[in-house]
Amino acid sequence: MTALPNLQINPQRLWDALMETAKFGGTAKGGIRRLTLSDEDKQVRDWFKAQCEALGCTVTVDEVGNMFARRPGKDNARDPICMGSHLDTQPTGGKFDGVLGVLGGLEVLRTLHETGYETTAPIELVNWTNEEGSRFAPAMLASGVFAGAFDTAFAYSRADRDGKLFESELERIGYRGQEKAGGHRLGAMFELHIEQGPILEAESLTIGIVTGVQGMRWYEVTVTGQDAHTGATPMHLRKNALLGAARMIEAVHRIAMDHAPLAVGTVGLIENKPNSRNVVPGEVFFTVDFRHPDEGVLDEMEAAFRAALPGVMDELSLSFEEKRIWVSPAVKFHPDLIDCVREGARKAGFAAREMVSGAGHDAAYIARVAPTTMIFVPCLGGISHNEAESTTFDECAAGAQVLLEAVVAYDARSA
Ligand code: GLV
Ligand code: MN
Ligand code: MN
Repeated sequence: MTALPNLQINPQRLWDALMETAKFGGTAKGGIRRLTLSDEDKQVRDWFKAQCEALGCTVTVDEVGNMFARRPGKDNARDPICMGSHLDTQPTGGKFDGVLGVLGGLEVLRTLHETGYETTAPIELVNWTNEEGSRFAPAMLASGVFAGAFDTAFAYSRADRDGKLFESELERIGYRGQEKAGGHRLGAMFELHIEQGPILEAESLTIGIVTGVQGMRWYEVTVTGQDAHTGATPMHLRKNALLGAARMIEAVHRIAMDHAPLAVGTVGLIENKPNSRNVVPGEVFFTVDFRHPDEGVLDEMEAAFRAALPGVMDELSLSFEEKRIWVSPAVKFHPDLIDCVREGARKAGFAAREMVSGAGHDAAYIARVAPTTMIFVPCLGGISHNEAESTTFDECAAGAQVLLEAVVAYDARSA
């Protein structure tokens, strides 16, 4: 076996890229608001494309806006080894969720470029569209289309809460590409990401070797009661939709607690109508997010949720509609790639452990069509989906270095 080269990423250049792009949608509290297919998303995409082209990469865009920057290898008949994540954020997102995986990959490309290192397989860096699922549900939408979990028409038909369609917004920002989604094969994918949880920090470790992603299910519920005057309507004659929703928020919490320690359950989005202080609420829309590494436990949680709903609504004389809008089954990553990350962490000299991701990631869908894995770095206090999200200069650099080592190791092994 040939010895692998001693390539070193440039930590300052990576940090500068993170801080420069944080301006696209930057918030007063130091976070980013860069919703999918917004003007800010277009700005960061334009920046990303220009940086990749400056390295001599060819950038292609598929029909759902996924962007692929390709650096040729010695044998371009091979399927590319990919790195990638997402540049969209939550409404009150931080500077690192998703962004580190794309810009860490950019730093790997820059390092390969400046050292003139030639891989055997081509390398591709991907920006997946709409990972967050915050503006257009579900999450991981366009990597899901790439992997065949959804069809393109389904993605195009997703509407935000203002009724704007994914398709028209994609067109509007100029990122509806020509290539069919999933139209080219991937040889492998490595996704670098912040952990978004507290484990690495608590154990003073720098690298998470990610072996899989837990299962996730999303539901939408509309509760219907009756708008009524708050002063003139006696308590026992009300049909208060918000009260029904409140009892279900409590039920969702309890169902997750009943499946401790691994289960989580959240009502994160709620719309109360007409939302006036002197009207008894007549209609409420809310979402439910259940997660667990075991599909059997998710079945139990779902059954408990569906058993609770009718009773709560009946007692309050409310009607409801409930729909499960998304299932993302638990995923196990590829042993060969996991081993490359393990080797990369060892070679770069970072303390590491194996772990399962609590958050959803594009890698979960890509694992259906290519060998895939992820690399985690810590985030302060485990806080993410928060403007205060924070990962240090050194931790970002460590993640990008391990990404580089893992990609080069995989390329060498498969050559
Ligand atoms: C994506 O950020 C998710 O885990 O919901
Ligand atoms: Mn993410
Ligand atoms: Mn996220």
